Amino acid sequence: MKLLLGLALAAILLVIGYFTFFTSPVLALDEKGCLQCHNKPDIKKTTQQGQVISLFVNEKELDASAHRFIDCDQCHSKPHDTPAVPTKITSAEKCGACHQYERKLHRESIHGQSLIRGEEGAANCVDCHSNALTPHSVVRVLSPESPAYRRNIADTCDRCHGNEKLMTSYGILEKTYESYMRSYHGKVQTLAKDDLRKLNMATCTNCHGVHDIKKAKDPTSKVGSLANLKEACAQCHAGADENFARSFIGHEEASLKSNPAIYYIERGFLLLTASVVAGGLIVTTLAFVHYTWRRPKK
Ligand code: HEC
Ligand code: HEC
Ligand code: HEC
Ligand code: HEC
Ligand code: HEC
Ligand code: HEC
Ligand code: HEC
Repeated sequence: MKLLLGLALAAILLVIGYFTFFTSPVLALDEKGCLQCHNKPDIKKTTQQGQVISLFVNEKELDASAHRFIDCDQCHSKPHDTPAVPTKITSAEKCGACHQYERKLHRESIHGQSLIRGEEGAANCVDCHSNALTPHSVVRVLSPESPAYRRNIADTCDRCHGNEKLMTSYGILEKTYESYMRSYHGKVQTLAKDDLRKLNMATCTNCHGVHDIKKAKDPTSKVGSLANLKEACAQCHAGADENFARSFIGHEEASLKSNPAIYYIERGFLLLTASVVAGGLIVTTLAFVHYTWRRPKK
């Protein structure tokens, strides 16, 4: 009887423990009850300029965000007194109220400068820190699904840098991702999966910077000269000099014009591989034909 009672008690404790530790949702702070209105998917307003803006805050996303323990009014000190039309800059300024250092670097970067010129194509904080592209779904950098998590960075840049129309409008090469994936750095990054030791492979931000990315031709950019580039290489390749940095052949696909040596080597390898495969095919086909021909008939 005592054993039975003990078992029952243990079972009850287990169930309670399970529900408190595993299934309880992490509820985002909402002490002012803002969500009773703002969790309605169709809540919106029309600005004086006639633009319709969604005012929906997805509670689920907020629950999983890095800011779940920050109450709404810490970011929205005067919630119903901001008639300005939200833009990528107003959003970045809001983030910058707390993350001043990141915002300062971002403001001086090519992305920040582009936004200041009034163009909306470049990256603000939300573009690189949220998968849903909303200010309320910013996740921690070290969570594996974060767009800023090392393994995902190249894909995050490619959201825009692989957009041919956007990139050609700026005269920027749009094949940076492909050339990166062709390189040893990209290959190992792909193979590493979640192995943190191997994730320390060069990704876009190791060469270009993170919040301080500049135009490639800007002499103050991390890739602006061989002298600067060698510093980037030396983070991982001890003692790398300008000669070593020169071994980065750039993002452009090797062509007769840009890089004839590499072009011929690549073509040569292609030809070699093709002839080996073709030779192998011919030999096996011949052997097969020979075998069926000569097979003793019953
Ligand atoms: C009773 C419903 C309700 C509650 C509660 C509420 N809001 Fe709103 N909120 C609205 C509506 C409606 C608008 C659109 C107002 C308009 O058309 O200008 C709005 C607009 C906003 C805006 C857009 C900026 C602006 O001036 O239009 C923000 C930001 C905002 N609310 C944040 C909050 C925060 C933070 C809280 C809690 C402190 C909150 N809201 C509580 C209904 C509500
Ligand atoms: C960590 C900061 C942060 C927290 C916490 C936060 N927000 Fe926001 N919210 C933002 C930013 C940044 C924007 C984009 C503002 C812009 O683009 O000018 C935004 C936009 C909005 C908008 C759209 C209107 C607009 O001005 O674009 C609403 C509505 C809103 N938030 C409501 C809320 C509510 C309700 C909560 C709490 C449940 C909340 N927010 C919590 C940072 C935050
Ligand atoms: C009211 C101040 C405040 C505002 C505004 C704010 N943040 Fe934060 N943010 C914080 C705090 C505090 C933390 C740390 C949270 C924790 O450790 O629990 C944080 C954490 C983060 C992290 C995770 C950092 C890490 O080490 O993984 C990122 C990324 C981030 N914020 C980006 C943003 C972006 C993007 C915006 C604008 C949409 C923003 N923040 C607006 C206060 C703020
Ligand atoms: C071009 C993409 C990009 C943009 C734009 C961007 N971030 Fe980041 N951010 C990253 C990456 C990638 C990391 C991870 C850094 C690392 O691995 O060292 C990061 C890291 C962070 C961190 C963690 C602490 C740190 O500095 O490493 C915070 C906080 C943060 N960003 C906030 C912001 C804010 C605020 C903005 C806008 C002003 C912003 N970020 C704009 C890509 C970006
Ligand atoms: C939201 C879109 C977007 C994202 C995400 C983004 N970029 Fe950009 N990037 C742009 C646009 C647009 C420009 C051109 C801005 C201009 O010249 O005015 C640009 C410019 C650049 C340049 C300068 C190119 C030149 O002219 O030499 C570099 C380098 C760059 N980005 C690297 C990155 C890296 C690395 C990442 C990821 C960590 C990234 N970007 C993420 C949109 C984006
Ligand atoms: C964040 C770290 C990091 C940065 C920055 C970096 N690399 Fe690498 N690189 C690696 C790792 C790790 C390997 C793979 C080593 C291995 O598997 O043996 C590698 C491999 C290479 C290889 C293949 C031959 C070898 O040594 O294994 C070359 C060439 C190379 N990197 C050149 C460069 C150049 C040029 C730069 C600067 C423009 C650079 N790397 C920047 C981490 C980095
Ligand atoms: C090993 C270092 C290294 C890595 C990794 C790297 N880059 Fe670059 N990137 C450079 C150098 C050096 C240049 C300037 C020479 C050139 O254009 O090839 C450059 C130029 C660029 C440009 C300007 C192209 C133009 O049209 O002038 C963009 C955009 C860019 N990189 C984006 C990226 C993105 C996105 C990634 C990741 C998918 C990435 N880079 C990874 C070193 C690197």
